[in-house]
Amino acid sequence: MKLFVFFVAAVVLVAWPCHGAGYQRFPLRMKTGYGERSSEVKCASFRLAVEAHNIRAFKTIPEECVEPTKDYINGEQFRSDSKTVNQQAFFYASEREVHHNDIFIFGIDNTVLSNIPYYEKHGYGVEEFNETLYDEWVNKGDAPALPETLKNYNKLLSLGFKIVFLSGRYLDKMAVTEANLKKAGFHTWEQLILKYVSFFLSIDITYLSFIYNKCCWLTSH
Ligand SMILES: *[C@@H]1O[C@H](CO)[C@@H](O)[C@H](O)[C@H]1NC(C)=O
Repeated sequence: MKLFVFFVAAVVLVAWPCHGAGYQRFPLRMKTGYGERSSEVKCASFRLAVEAHNIRAFKTIPEECVEPTKDYINGEQFRSDSKTVNQQAFFYASEREVHHNDIFIFGIDNTVLSNIPYYEKHGYGVEEFNETLYDEWVNKGDAPALPETLKNYNKLLSLGFKIVFLSGRYLDKMAVTEANLKKAGFHTWEQLILKYVSFFLSIDITYLSFIYNKCCWLTSH
């Protein structure tokens, strides 16, 4: 069995902080030497830096980035970014010879299922992430598909790949996540892997690094 791990980590919604992270705010204002920039330009830089993992931990997006973030998500660029990432993953996959039980792993959160509806209601991340409210939203099971990921998913299935979904959601979200995936058009998969609470109680180093990685793709991309 070969494992093709693509966390088709499409397009981060700018506002997806790592929980418990240290930085309160990203200093948008440079002290000297950089000149004036428009919010639009600054916030595009912020977004790029987040996606490149140069900004790793933040709790809220800068206030002046609310409108630019909204414009980015609702405009053509977000869909296009998602398309490009999915295309690249598909090109890679389509060049492989597919064997029985070859699997393709998708991260769910904001890659397969969009969490934008939650963020739309909460200032696109200018409000601090609230786990209780997010859970309530997740439990509705209404998250829509990212359309470009759904296309890619269907193409990968027709190439013969088996699909595994992975999410930073906890195990108690199994039923709602399954129902939500189906509702959004993801009708089949080999396995859905959710997070065990006990991971957090373990000092095993692999688990720790597992969690560390989760911080920036599972809950963030
Ligand atoms: C999250 O939202 C709930 C409901 O509005 C509120 O009671 C709670 O204090 C919030 N938690 C944090 C950490 O802000």
